[in-house]
Amino acid sequence: MRLRPLTPNLGAEVSGIELSADMDDALFRALYQAFLRHQVLLFPPHDLPPANQVAFARRFGEVQVHVMNQYHADGYPELYRLSNLDRHGKPSGHHPDKGTLAWHTDGSWQRVTGQATIIYGEVMPKSGGETHFCDMYGAYERLSASWKKRIADLRAVHNLDFSRSRRHGEDPLTEAQRLTKPPVDHPIVRTHPETGRKCLFLGDHAEYIQGMPYDEGRALIEELNALAVHADLTYEHRWKARELLLWDNRCVMHRATAYDAANEGRVIRRCTVLGEIPA
Ligand SMILES: [Fe+2]
Repeated sequence: MRLRPLTPNLGAEVSGIELSADMDDALFRALYQAFLRHQVLLFPPHDLPPANQVAFARRFGEVQVHVMNQYHADGYPELYRLSNLDRHGKPSGHHPDKGTLAWHTDGSWQRVTGQATIIYGEVMPKSGGETHFCDMYGAYERLSASWKKRIADLRAVHNLDFSRSRRHGEDPLTEAQRLTKPPVDHPIVRTHPETGRKCLFLGDHAEYIQGMPYDEGRALIEELNALAVHADLTYEHRWKARELLLWDNRCVMHRATAYDAANEGRVIRRCTVLGEIPA
């Protein structure tokens, strides 16, 4: 296995290994250490059948079955496909999930939040549709001492129904989906359970601050979300088809960029592995 850093701070490209279900334990351990250290891993273009993606994800832990079951793919409820192609394989003009355009961390709207997310790019547009990452260890470390003190004990309430519908109102959660995923609170500053490092844990699913007037909490969340992104602590990935990206939701935020959904196709399939209750 070879690693090539993608930026001085965040991300590495992995080559020389095959993502098969029977990857040996020593190799997986080395890969997992690289995942903890670099936070974002990129694998060069290769064929990855859906079954292998799910099997690889299971090495990390329990794979989430997403509440929005309209996205389940290929007979695997663990796979979630985002596609703008219609039945005939033509771009429909409909962006499948505009919520992904804002900085967020996967599954923060659940009590047990996302650990790894593993995305395989099936079809990629010639421009746009990038995935950007920012380092949330660095986001915390660069806060002033007064900010750190101010947020040390605050908890944010994360709510998928809020983030899903507040900007565009398309494809809202059904009543049944909403009832299975009520809002949950998490610390704003969490300690990564494996590295022991502190990081900021917010993003677009965070709606308000527990025990603070709603508008004041909203303003604080928006301000911190903006403060979290530093150009030199960011990796912007321009996709090639058949690449795979793997990242640690506990210490990075990510977003997708827009693309011409009426004229270009973009299809990805995603697995999110469940992690732990943030502390
Ligand atoms: Fe995401």
